[in-house]
Amino acid sequence: MSSAPRALSDAFQEVFGRDSAGIWAAPGRVNLIGEHTDYNGGFVLPFALPQTSRVAAATRGDRIVHVRSLLNGETAEFSLDGLRPGVVEGWAAYAAGMLWSLEQAGHLLPGMDLLIDSEVPIGAGLSSSAALECSVGLAATELAGVGLPAVELAQLAQHAENDFVGMPCGIMDQMASIAAQAEHALLLDTRSMAIEHVPFMLAQDGLALLVIDSLAEHRLVDGEYAARRSQCETGARQLGLESLRELNDDGVAPEELSARLEDPVILRRVRHVLTENTRVLAAREALSIGAYAELGEILSASHASQRDDFEITVPETDTLVETLMAPHQDHGAQPALGARQVGGGFGGCVIALIDADSFEGLLGAVQENARRHGFTEPTGFLAQPSAGARRLS
Ligand code: GLA
Repeated sequence: MSSAPRALSDAFQEVFGRDSAGIWAAPGRVNLIGEHTDYNGGFVLPFALPQTSRVAAATRGDRIVHVRSLLNGETAEFSLDGLRPGVVEGWAAYAAGMLWSLEQAGHLLPGMDLLIDSEVPIGAGLSSSAALECSVGLAATELAGVGLPAVELAQLAQHAENDFVGMPCGIMDQMASIAAQAEHALLLDTRSMAIEHVPFMLAQDGLALLVIDSLAEHRLVDGEYAARRSQCETGARQLGLESLRELNDDGVAPEELSARLEDPVILRRVRHVLTENTRVLAAREALSIGAYAELGEILSASHASQRDDFEITVPETDTLVETLMAPHQDHGAQPALGARQVGGGFGGCVIALIDADSFEGLLGAVQENARRHGFTEPTGFLAQPSAGARRLS
């Protein structure tokens, strides 16, 4: 469990022998819908979690940075001078990369001591890495007296992850972590970077959003994510488009694609992006009028598209979705209205739109079913749409 601000500043005092100048927090996110659309100029609809990455920080008189993590007790030490990709690796690369990215953009930083803690599950597709980047980014910019608009800070965090860590992610996670608001989902047009805060308060209608961590190992840096991205780029090139988003602008129907794309794999990838963008906008509409049965169907259709067209689901997450959607009279739970895998893919979490009273029953049912399949028993929690990155003290 992550430490309260007071405990984190006490720990800073213990580790660094002086007071921290402040504590900053940035949340993980759940993507309600819009998977692998963000690097195709498309739409996404994530929201921020209450779980955050927190950093206690203070400047130093030199250009040295110490980053210590309370999660593993490790410390990385490096100089801002000569900092470049490859110099810092592992978990600390997300923090170092953020500082590198800020300096690359011309923001001169002082050396600093950073103490990091996080309660965002790692490797679950809930953006623990963006939370870490954004908490460090916010701390560093405030300490350096640099005021950056949310979009710019998010883009610099993405640059850190793309070019320092080496993960070719889009902009969704960093924008959600920085710009999300409590009780809202964030509709982001990743081409124009326009945002709209969409009210997302399920409790008043007796519903809840269940997040289940399949605990199936989730690896994004291992090439599959990059392969999907490059297949999308190939598709756009073959169609003569800047980005696949233009298919939506042009009102292209999914059935028209087969006449324009020969390679069946590219066809499936492109079809996922086209239909997923349509689903994001439909989900926003459904949410705004409280059409929850429809929203559920849209979520389930997103899962099917990720499974059949984008091919990024795994048996653990497919089984979770099937179990969530099946009747469970023995557990006293209503089937979910809809469910889908979230995040980069190949494991991680599944979300389900559920009747709030069915939480225990559905969790019991998926755990029992996972045991039957010989999968690791999943864990689950109800997600509360929460605030984006902020200073805590
Ligand atoms: C990861 C990336 C995001 C996005 C999702 C898939 O979370 O960091 O940019 O591409 O995968 O929607």
